[in-house]
Formats: sequence, structure tokens, C-alpha cells
Amino acid sequence: QLIPVILSGGSGTRLWPLSTEQTPKQFLPLAGEKSLLQQTVLRARSIRHAAAPIIVASQEHERRVIAELSAVGCAPSRLLLKPIGRNTAPALAMAALESVEEDNLLLVMPSDHVIRNVEAFGKAVHRALSLAEVGWLVTFGITPDRPATGYGYIHMGDSLSGPICRVNRFVEKPEAARAERMLAEGSYLWNAGIFLLRSDRLLEELSIQAPTLVGSVRKALSTGHREAGRVIPDRATFAAIEAQSIDYLVMERASRMAVVPVDVGWSDIGSWDALHEVETRDDSDNAFHGDVLALDSQGCLIRSDGPRVAALGISDLVIVATEDVVLVIPRERAQEVRRLVRLAAETT
Ligand code: GDD
Ligand code: MG
Repeated sequence: QLIPVILSGGSGTRLWPLSTEQTPKQFLPLAGEKSLLQQTVLRARSIRHAAAPIIVASQEHERRVIAELSAVGCAPSRLLLKPIGRNTAPALAMAALESVEEDNLLLVMPSDHVIRNVEAFGKAVHRALSLAEVGWLVTFGITPDRPATGYGYIHMGDSLSGPICRVNRFVEKPEAARAERMLAEGSYLWNAGIFLLRSDRLLEELSIQAPTLVGSVRKALSTGHREAGRVIPDRATFAAIEAQSIDYLVMERASRMAVVPVDVGWSDIGSWDALHEVETRDDSDNAFHGDVLALDSQGCLIRSDGPRVAALGISDLVIVATEDVVLVIPRERAQEVRRLVRLAAETT
């Protein structure tokens, strides 16, 4: 069985004031009318032969997740609700333990990304199936266009099957200077954060790298709460597990890793500027959402979930209005939103 595993934890504030701890990015309608979580669910469903997904989310978002899933007619095979965030390694260990019996292939999908070309993505997944079936850990690689430090970098090795290569090295979130060097070198791809792997292989690698993790997760699942397809691991046991990302724990060290280079219109929408790039824009390169009136303006991203925003004669700005905050920032400085997030936290 090919089982999509949709990761919907974590919180990002890079799209502040729209994304917050209560409403992380995956619940926002970005680059479309549906939320990123809903887009991910539909993307999973569009893949040929894919089974019903496993969703891993935070317990505090349970109602929201259920409402969003049912709005797109998705009935997950399991809803795993983490009582507390522990990053992606424990989340994936849960999904693997829940699915290991039937010799399953997991397609791990973050819920906070955009993929414009869903059909090409589905094809890439199918191209990689046979390698994953014989035990390769398959990653999906994006051609980098800048020395970003927030991604994993994959050094491509020999071809295994057509464009699919062996991974020589996996470097998670490099320092700026190292990112520059890897970009210049040319044989590196960004890790899209999407993985195709067998449940038992994932558990095997996890057991090698973190001998106690799988046991603790198993215990948290068996002593947790379970009804129908809804599973809440035991809080105290789960809280005692060390927070680790699958990238640092497994991908940087695993053997038998492969990468499928993909060109599928991927973006993890890490900033307002990145959102501007993936949104539908008018002839003047503007992307508007909500009650927005604009004249003689170019290159702007203007969104309102609150009052009407009226603009004239502006260029290359991001304006985001919510019920209680209005953000105004040049597009090219969108990365610096976190400075305002910090300031806002200090002054409320
Ligand atoms: N269920 C659950 N529980 N999901 C989580 C948790 C958690 O505790 N923490 C994070 N997630 C989800 C996030 O919501 C996201 O969908 C996905 O797991 C990846 O986590 P991020 O926190 O967004 O990771 P990242 O962006 O720093 O880095 C990863 O993604 C990059 C591409 O966007 C890595 O895989 C990088 O190598 C990769 O380049
Ligand atoms: Mg991310």
C-alpha cells in the first residue's frame, strides 16, 4: 500500500500577522481558495493507487483539522494527535509504527507547501516507487536558485535509474558560507521535505540513530487513547521524547538514499515575498486577496482579512491587514518580518 502521511504540526510566524501560533500556515488559504492543508490532502488523493492518508497533527488543532478534512471529503485512515510538539522524527515514528504491518510505503508530505504541478508530482512519485520498494529512502530535490539556509541540501551522486540519483551527502540547514559554496558547486538540490520510504526501513534507520526513540513512541501509542481512527499518544511518555527532526536524525546519516529531481512548482512559502511569487498576479504583477482597492500600483501583495485596504501609486510592497494588525513592508525585506514579530511580542 502507498500511504500518504501528512504532517500538520509545527508553527511558523514568517507569515505574521496572518500565521500565528493558533493559526499556523497550513490552515491559511494561500495560493488558492483552499487552505494549504486541504491542498495537500487533495494532492495526496490525486496520486494513483494512494490509500487514505495518515494525518499527524497537534491535539490543540484537532477540531480545525477535522473540519478542514471533512470540508474536502477526506476520511483519513488515522488521525494521530500529538499532545505536544516534538518535531518530525517522533511524528514519523508514530506513522511508521501505525502502518508497519502491511509492508507499507509511506509518502511523507508536509502540509505547509505549495506544489503547482500536481500531475508532475504524482508522476515523480510513481517513478520512484520501485526503488522505495526495495528499501531506498527516496527524497525529492528542487533546483536551488539562492543560497538559502533554511533548507536541506542534497549532493547528487551516480544515477540509479534515469534521473534518479544516489544521495552522496545530505546537509540540513547549512551555515550561509557553506550554502554559498554548495550553490556554486552546482550538483546540489534542495530537499523538498517530501519522502517516499518503507515503514520498516524508516523504523530501522530510526532505531540505529536513536535507539530509545522508537520504543518510547511505541509505548506512548500503546498506553495512549485510541478510538475509531483517532489516536492520542500518552502525554507524559510522549513529552519525555527528545524533539528531533527527521532531517538531522535520519537523512544526514542514513544509507541507501536516493533523490528524484523534480520541477513541480514547489514552494514552502517561507516569506511574504515567496507567497507573492506563487500567487496568481494581475498584469501589474500585483496579488490581491480580500477587500482590496488599488490604483496605479505594481508588484504588490495586498491581503485583507479585516478592513478594506485602498492603495494608490505604490510599488513592491507587502500589505497585510488582519482584524488587529496591519503589516506594511517592502517586498524585498519580507525576511525581516521576524524582527517585527519579536517587537510585537515585547510591546503587548
Ligand atoms: N505532526 C507534526 N509534529 N508535524 C510537524 C512537527 C511536529 O512536531 N514539527 C514540524 N512539523 C511539520 C511542519 O508543519 C511541516 O509541515 C513539516 O513537518 C516540516 O517541518 P518544518 O518545521 O516546516 O521543517 P523545515 O521547513 O524547518 O525544514 C524541512 O523542510 C524543508 C523544506 O521546506 C526540512 O525537511 C528541510 O530539509 C527542507 O529543505
Ligand atoms: Mg517548513
